[in-house]
Amino acid sequence: MTATTEPAKVRGETILAVDQLVKHFPISQGVLFKKTIGQVKAVDGVSFELRRGETLGVVGESGCGKSTLARLLMRLETPTSGRVTLEGRDLLRATGADLRRLRRNMQMVMQDPYTSLNPRMTVGDIIGEPFEIHPEAAPKRSRRQRVQELLDVVGLNPEHVNRYPHQFSGGQRQRIGIARALALRPEIIVCDEPVSALDVSIQAQVINLLRELQDELGLSYIFIAHDLSVVRHISDRVAVMYLGRIVEIGTEEQIYQRATHPYTQALLSAVPVPDPEARDRRTIIRLTGDVPSPAEPPSGCHFRTRCWKAEEVCATQDPQAVPRAADPHPSACHFAEVRTEA
Ligand SMILES: Nc1ncnc2c1ncn2[C@@H]1O[C@H](COP(=O)(O)OP(=O)(O)O)[C@@H](O)[C@H]1O
Ligand code: SF4
Ligand SMILES: [Mg+2]
Repeated sequence: MTATTEPAKVRGETILAVDQLVKHFPISQGVLFKKTIGQVKAVDGVSFELRRGETLGVVGESGCGKSTLARLLMRLETPTSGRVTLEGRDLLRATGADLRRLRRNMQMVMQDPYTSLNPRMTVGDIIGEPFEIHPEAAPKRSRRQRVQELLDVVGLNPEHVNRYPHQFSGGQRQRIGIARALALRPEIIVCDEPVSALDVSIQAQVINLLRELQDELGLSYIFIAHDLSVVRHISDRVAVMYLGRIVEIGTEEQIYQRATHPYTQALLSAVPVPDPEARDRRTIIRLTGDVPSPAEPPSGCHFRTRCWKAEEVCATQDPQAVPRAADPHPSACHFAEVRTEA
C-alpha cells in the first residue's frame, strides 16, 4: 500500500470556479496595415462555479458565446481578462507539469460528430490519441486494451477498434467522441452541444449514456445547448446566456418553475409541452427583433432592445446577476419577477 496525500474528493464541493471571464475578439480592417476598428464581445464577464458530480447546463441562442466560453475553459483561446480556478489552482496561469495535470482533468466533447473525428484515423487511434499526448496515463502495451474497454464503456463493440468513423452512425460517432474524452479519466467534461447534430430519437440515448457515466465515474459536466428542453433532464443547475453574459442561473427547479428574467421566460415559453391542456393555457412570448451584434451590445441591460418590460433605467444601469426579491437565485434584471401565467 502506498500512502496517499491527495485530499478527499467531496461531492458537491467547488471543483471549477470562473470569475469575470472576458473574451473580446478584435475586428481589424485593412490589407497591409491592419487596424483594429472594434471588438466582438463574445464572452463579456462570465462568473459561475461548478460543483463536483453536478451538471451545469449552459443555454442561449446561437452566437451568445457558449463555444467561446468552452474554448476558454479548455485553454484553446486566451482570455482577455478574468480568472479560472480548477481544483484550487489558477488554470490560466498554470505552466509545465501543473498545466498538463490540469488539462488532463478537463476534457471536451464537441458538437459535430461528423467533423470532429479525423476520417483517416481508425477509431482505436482516435480514442488512443490522448495517450500520445499524455503517455503517463497508460503504458504503451496496455493502450489497445484500454481503448477496447473505453469502447465497451460507451456501448460500442470493442471489436470495431480498427474501423473508420464513416463506418459508424451519427450517434455512434458521438459515443466515440465521448470515449476519447474519457480516455485520460478526467473529472470534468465540457460538452458543447453534444446532441444538437443528432436525430431526436438518438439524442436521448446519448444523454442517457452521459448520465450513466456521470453516476459511475463521479464526473462533473458543463453541458451546453441552445434550448432549455435539451438540458432539463440532465442539469442540476442551469445558466442562461445572452450576448456574452449569464443573465440568470439557478437550480433546475428555480429556472424551470420560478425564472425571474424576461429572457429566460421567453425561452421557456417556447419549450414544447407534452400536456395538451397546459399547451392551450400558456402564451408563447415572441421576441421581436434580432439579437444585436456582440460588437455593439446595447448599453445597460444587453437584452433591453428585445425586452417588453424595458424602462429607462435599463439603458443606463447594467443589471447585475444577483439574488432578487422575487426568488433568491441570481437574475440580471432590474424588474425580476416570477411569471404567474404558466
Ligand atoms: N475566432 C473568432 N474570431 C472572431 N469572432 C469570433 C471568433 N469565435 C467566435 N466569434 C464570435 O463570437 C461570438 C460568439 O460565438 P460562439 O462562442 O461561437 O457562440 P455560440 O457557441 O453561443 O453560438 C459570435 O459573434 C462569433 O461570431
Ligand atoms: S433589466 Fe430591463 S431590459 Fe433588462 S431584462 Fe430586466 S426589464 Fe428587461
Ligand atoms: Mg457554439
